[in-house]
Amino acid sequence: QEDIFKKVISHAKEYGYVVQSSEIYDGLSAVYDYLQNGAELKKNIREYWWQAMVQLHENIVGIDAAIFMHPTTWKASGHVDAFNDPLIDNKDSKKRYRADVLVEEHVAKIEAKIEKEVSKAAKRFGDAFDEAQFRATNARVMEYQEKADTIIKRLARSLEKEDLEDVKNLILELDIVCPVSGSKNWTDVKQFNLMFGTKLGATAESAMDLYLRPETAQGIFVNFLNVQKSGRMKIPFGIAQIGKAFRNEIVARQFIFRMREFEQMEMQFFIRPGTQKEWYETWKQTRMKWHLSLGMGAENYRFHDHEKLAHYADAAADIEFRFPFGFKELEGIHSRTDFDLGSHEKYSGKKLQYFDPELEESYVPYVIETSIGLDRMFLAILSHSLVDEELENGSTRTVLKIPAVLAPTKAAVLPLVKKDGLPEIAQEIMDELRLDFNVSYDDKDAVGRRYRRQDAAGTPFCITVDHQTLEDRTVTLRHRDTMEQRRLPIEELHGAIDREVGM
Ligand code: GAP
Repeated sequence: QEDIFKKVISHAKEYGYVVQSSEIYDGLSAVYDYLQNGAELKKNIREYWWQAMVQLHENIVGIDAAIFMHPTTWKASGHVDAFNDPLIDNKDSKKRYRADVLVEEHVAKIEAKIEKEVSKAAKRFGDAFDEAQFRATNARVMEYQEKADTIIKRLARSLEKEDLEDVKNLILELDIVCPVSGSKNWTDVKQFNLMFGTKLGATAESAMDLYLRPETAQGIFVNFLNVQKSGRMKIPFGIAQIGKAFRNEIVARQFIFRMREFEQMEMQFFIRPGTQKEWYETWKQTRMKWHLSLGMGAENYRFHDHEKLAHYADAAADIEFRFPFGFKELEGIHSRTDFDLGSHEKYSGKKLQYFDPELEESYVPYVIETSIGLDRMFLAILSHSLVDEELENGSTRTVLKIPAVLAPTKAAVLPLVKKDGLPEIAQEIMDELRLDFNVSYDDKDAVGRRYRRQDAAGTPFCITVDHQTLEDRTVTLRHRDTMEQRRLPIEELHGAIDREVGM
């Protein structure tokens, strides 16, 4: 699985999708640049989401709020107080760990150790079963497991209560049971806020401390009344937004899965208090349908209902996707109650209420939120689409089976040879198609190699212009996934492509 993931990363670079930011300076950790194909794919995902959420819902409108927001926003939202990770440094290895991740590593090591003991014992008893010895081994494993379990349970509780002193002591205890780093030289556990700080203003004295937004949602909440009034919106209604968000992630691994600068596609749906259960369910199903509409296989998605809730939620679920490194969160659906609007009311002193003409009363609306990372969606598509296929003749081909509707380039036009008037017809086809689709022109190498190149880049169609074209103005249309080829008149190309790539 790790190999597949490495392949995705190198393919992303080789075919102009994603590279690490500032690569010539050895890169910036957990920050990435999207190249020519990546930017197109990202744009298409954005459009696919926007169309489904805004265009197809009469009661949802879109906005584009600023990344900088008044600093009080983040007090009201809870991010100043609650958006923290517990960190611990190891003085010997000079490594920094997130306390909860460190615990996860301990647990994995302990489980592996127990498994080893058990299989060792099984081997030993395979030939000559000695009951006394078996019992002794069994007791040792059980005792070890129990000890570890107790510490782990206590750790989970102290992490939740944010009792940092206790967290440190328990990590020390865990280290005795099963060392992870080979060192007991830990610093105290500190809370580390994930927001990036910056300053607004020219002089040091007058400058105002700002944060880069860690979620786009707050730009929607502070504009709730502006949109409701100017758009004469009636509850239930939604506000959608796509934009950058920033988090100083401590554990920044896994390529574009967890980034420090990323993009979110969020929608806040404002509802009557008391109706949140139904709307929460509705949005869970609606969002799952959106994912399934891309045809990447229902078996690759699942819901994960949260027991431990974020500071703002009364119910929450993730839509998880099967990434090369396992099922992981792709999108979150949260029932946020009136937490945000209520809190902004308190901090701003402005009423953020809605007059419900049917009930003839005012209230602070409840909110159901759907929130998906654009980059994470990109990774889901890229990692799912990249396949090595064995062909009938025994050779293999690498194909990027990106859903046609999202593919960066829809068709490549390939003149069989660079003479006899074929390039001119190819150019003519380019000019006609480019008004509606992204198309590319490729006249280098043998046509078989060009097909392979387009397969690997993710282009759903190849259009080949050959000598027969000169006679009857027909071309070959080759399909990326099936490799099927059929001849059709140039005039029918537009319709044939449109049927498969239209949103
Ligand atoms: N407004 C709610 C919110 O921000 P979240 O679960 O923290 O909730 C929502 O984030 C989604 O944003 C996640 O499901 C994920 O797809 C994406 N996301 C969060 N942090 C990310 C990061 N560091 N890099 C890439 N995507 C991220």
